[in-house]
Amino acid sequence: MANQDFQSFLDEVVMKNDIVEIISGFTVLKRSGSNMMGLCPLHNDKKSPSLSVSPDKQIFHCFGCGAGGSVIQFVEAAMNLDFMDAVKYLADRVHMEMPDKRSGGDKQKQLMASRKKERLYQINARAARYYFDQLSTPEGRPGLEYLKKRKISNSTIKKFGIGYAPEGWSNLIDHLKKQGCSESDMYDAGLVRKRENGTYYDAFYDGRVVFPIIDVRGRIIAFGGRIIRDGTDAPKYWNTPETMIFKKKDNLFGLNLAKNDKSGRLLLMEGYMDVVALHQSGFGNAVASLGTSFTSEQARLVKRYAPRAVLCYDNDEAGKKATLRAGDILFDEGVKVRVLTVTDGKDPDEFIKNKGPDMFAVLIEKAKPLIEYKINEIREKYNLNDVDDKVDFIREASAVLARVKNPAQREIYVGKLADELKISADSIMSGITEFERKNDRIEARRQENARLRQIVRRESAGTENARGLYWAERMLLNQMCDKQVMKRVKENGITPDDFICDPVHRRLAELLFELSEKGVCPEPADLIGRSLPEDAGPVSDILMSDKNIKDKASACAGPIETMMKAKEGRLIAGGADDDEQLMRLFEKKKQRKL
Ligand code: UTP
Ligand code: MN
Repeated sequence: MANQDFQSFLDEVVMKNDIVEIISGFTVLKRSGSNMMGLCPLHNDKKSPSLSVSPDKQIFHCFGCGAGGSVIQFVEAAMNLDFMDAVKYLADRVHMEMPDKRSGGDKQKQLMASRKKERLYQINARAARYYFDQLSTPEGRPGLEYLKKRKISNSTIKKFGIGYAPEGWSNLIDHLKKQGCSESDMYDAGLVRKRENGTYYDAFYDGRVVFPIIDVRGRIIAFGGRIIRDGTDAPKYWNTPETMIFKKKDNLFGLNLAKNDKSGRLLLMEGYMDVVALHQSGFGNAVASLGTSFTSEQARLVKRYAPRAVLCYDNDEAGKKATLRAGDILFDEGVKVRVLTVTDGKDPDEFIKNKGPDMFAVLIEKAKPLIEYKINEIREKYNLNDVDDKVDFIREASAVLARVKNPAQREIYVGKLADELKISADSIMSGITEFERKNDRIEARRQENARLRQIVRRESAGTENARGLYWAERMLLNQMCDKQVMKRVKENGITPDDFICDPVHRRLAELLFELSEKGVCPEPADLIGRSLPEDAGPVSDILMSDKNIKDKASACAGPIETMMKAKEGRLIAGGADDDEQLMRLFEKKKQRKL
């Protein structure tokens, strides 16, 4: 049974069991406005009725003990049952069959998720097969010609599973439908995109060569598609967005092949095409990050498969910048990094075409250790015959060496510099120590800033403003089931991240946004069913706290305004990076309190 099905089973159980009827079995309920009130049977409620039940919303909340939720949570608490047994009790009561008697709620959810993932892997495999097969059809002819033009051999095409997505809005959709795949699975795999009106179209619709991205376990998790037509505004590559099975920052293109390489060294490229060209030329250890800047997760992945890495990025300004960034990340993760400089052509792919694989092997051997590369880059900027330039050069180089924590390594580089510049190693060393002290000071200041910022935040938690924000968030959350309200909220650029007063607020906001994306208008009891079990009490409190508002859309204007102001304030405070500014802010807050 799919996750969705289990959820709708629960929804039906809740719908068929009237909460007023159930709770009336435990306590006497009396009408009070639109709600019913009674003594709470969940705690020792002797004096004043603190339990409130909403017949419209089918939820309850107790002001005394904080319990709340739908009829399921009530039965759980009142009859001391666990979730599944409470569901079973209620299902029996209305003669509904339990879907699966063996597994509990969490297990069920896990099972659903893993089945869903399996389906996504399978659907990706089918899509890859489809794209690959297109290369031998008349429609796929342009794709094959493009690959031939780029000198990619048939066996390389096979090895990487490269394919082609011909132009058209529904080629893949039609094909996968025939194989029995659902459009919502295609969507969740990132293979199709959704139109405003809810219909779907192929993600690769404008004629793209498609590279499957394969994880180290050999499963196809995503695709990158290169447009083959010239002169369009469309992006050169379009890649699968993040999905349940694809986290960009955790993967490297080509690692499924490169992991079998025995050289203890990975070659890091910028582009898919570079990786493909290198493997074809016998460099089976080439990988690429996936169209984003290199991450520390990827650095750890590199380290798991090889202790050494060579950065082979494009030979342009962007490539140089990316090299320094990735270099530092790898260095900090303890990978021995070298930097290769492409001397002929804009990237390794072009170099190999121009000079051949043997010359590329020479480039690899000539690759410089990261520190040396950085110092060389700095040296380029200066005329070392000029005394002032020389001093500046030493200062900049010392800043680089201050990052080298290994004493032996540092001494080696210092020795080299001293020889080259004909000055004593001691004077260079003392310059480096100075930088180190400065770095320590910067770090200390950064920590102090963070501490101050936290105090500012804590101080303001008790102020008028913060209380206003708290109630604004709750008021909005209470009304965001309403389509019009949700629309206003989105129009104002409010996101779940802006609900900051309570983690429960934020989680409920996330849920509301998610459902609204799916076009669902949720009922309060559904929301509780979809919340964390421990959130049931506070969520029901929020959902019950409205006061018979007639025009929701206009009632939400005030809370939206409050939230927008708070957001603005946070942006300003977040930008207060130098300590003076922060101090001023801090002082102002203090004065206001006096
Ligand atoms: P490149 O433009 O260097 O791509 O971008 P490439 O692989 O060398 O392709 P060719 O040789 O020009 O055909 C490097 C990488 O950046 C990502 C892709 O992962 C690409 O391989 N990228 C680039 C995108 O994700 N989107 C883009 O629009 C461009
Ligand atoms: Mn390229």
